[in-house]
Amino acid sequence: MPNLAINGGEPTRTESFPSWPTLDPADIEAFENIYNSGRWGVGGTNVPEFAKQFAEFQGAKYGVCVNSGTSALYIALKAAEVGPGDEVITSPYTFQATVVVILMTHAVPVFVDTAPDSFLLDVSKIEEAITEKTKAILPVHIAGYPADLDGLTEISDKHNLKLIEDCAQAHGAEWRGKGVGSWGDFGCFSFQSSKNLCAGEGGIILTNDRELYERTYALHNCGRTPPEAEFGNIEPFGGNFRMTEWQASILLSRLTRLEEETNHRHMNMRWLDGWFGEIPGIKVTRIDPRATRCGSHGYKAIFDSEEFEGISRARFLEAMRAEGIPIGYWYTTPMYRATFLKSNLFGQNLDYNDFHCPETEKICQSGLAFSQNVLMGNVRDMEDIIKATMKIRRNVNELKDDT
Ligand SMILES: Cc1ncc(COP(=O)(O)O)c(C=O)c1O
Repeated sequence: MPNLAINGGEPTRTESFPSWPTLDPADIEAFENIYNSGRWGVGGTNVPEFAKQFAEFQGAKYGVCVNSGTSALYIALKAAEVGPGDEVITSPYTFQATVVVILMTHAVPVFVDTAPDSFLLDVSKIEEAITEKTKAILPVHIAGYPADLDGLTEISDKHNLKLIEDCAQAHGAEWRGKGVGSWGDFGCFSFQSSKNLCAGEGGIILTNDRELYERTYALHNCGRTPPEAEFGNIEPFGGNFRMTEWQASILLSRLTRLEEETNHRHMNMRWLDGWFGEIPGIKVTRIDPRATRCGSHGYKAIFDSEEFEGISRARFLEAMRAEGIPIGYWYTTPMYRATFLKSNLFGQNLDYNDFHCPETEKICQSGLAFSQNVLMGNVRDMEDIIKATMKIRRNVNELKDDT
């Protein structure tokens, strides 16, 4: 009689995990208020109010709301005056937007490997990648795990580089008790549907620098400076990247729940770390003790096939899913292998053919991931994840023939 569900045994669970986005009547009320006000865009109060509240939430002085996380990164690069021929240091383990925005400014992405078992930029390798063309560092707080902001600020200060944090996945994340996105020159967030704070689409750029704020504001709003502008010398260059009042109303409503939800996900994440840490073959992500709170946009770990008698990651995932656990992986290809980098689309002549980041290549092959909605589950949901993993390990012989 097989034990594993993939072979016809009883699955660990059949109930689904919490779905996303969560629905709340307060969101509908906020939305209706906008409808009834007739102020759906420019001139409304929700966009500036959300910019203020979210900046405060992350510990930054200023916020400029935009229509997506991609726009936020693009505008931050433009405000940092990154342009043709400049180099921007970034992580190869990220979503394509991080790299596409660099190309959109006609700059060159320079990839630095991730640290072993962390999915995050290896700060100890950044300085050797700096050249006289380097203009900015664009680290990614992937899945909400904060990158080493002490190291990053030290290097960017020392070399006079702009630090642009990609916080698209890191709402609520904190480094030494202070929100990510408030450490660098700019912090860029996304409010796209899957994100921990979402409005379908949307983004924000945070900064602590008044002049950078005004430049960012002008870039996102057709060259117009903010009403209370102090710097009159801003070029009236800019497009329309504005957020609507609809988006801001939903975001304001959902922001009231973000603190509690972030703590809930973080607690589940650490609970899973504790248990996975006891299971040979599942390596938990190394979290720096200075990363005082993770945004937990997802849960990440590393699969060690050898400890599972040589079965492939794909086979393990299939078996877990049959047990009722919605586990997967994130990026399977380092960004320097993205086909758009070969297309010469933005006039760059880039060749990464012989370029390798060994640690990133390893995690692309062996990473495991749960999305954030799984971390919204209760204690029993988390227990089922561990039970299913232990069950597979105990019965791994049942999986060996097909590997
Ligand atoms: C790491 C990262 N950067 C940037 C973005 C871009 O955000 P958006 O989809 O809102 O444009 C995303 C979105 O998924 C992301 O995950």
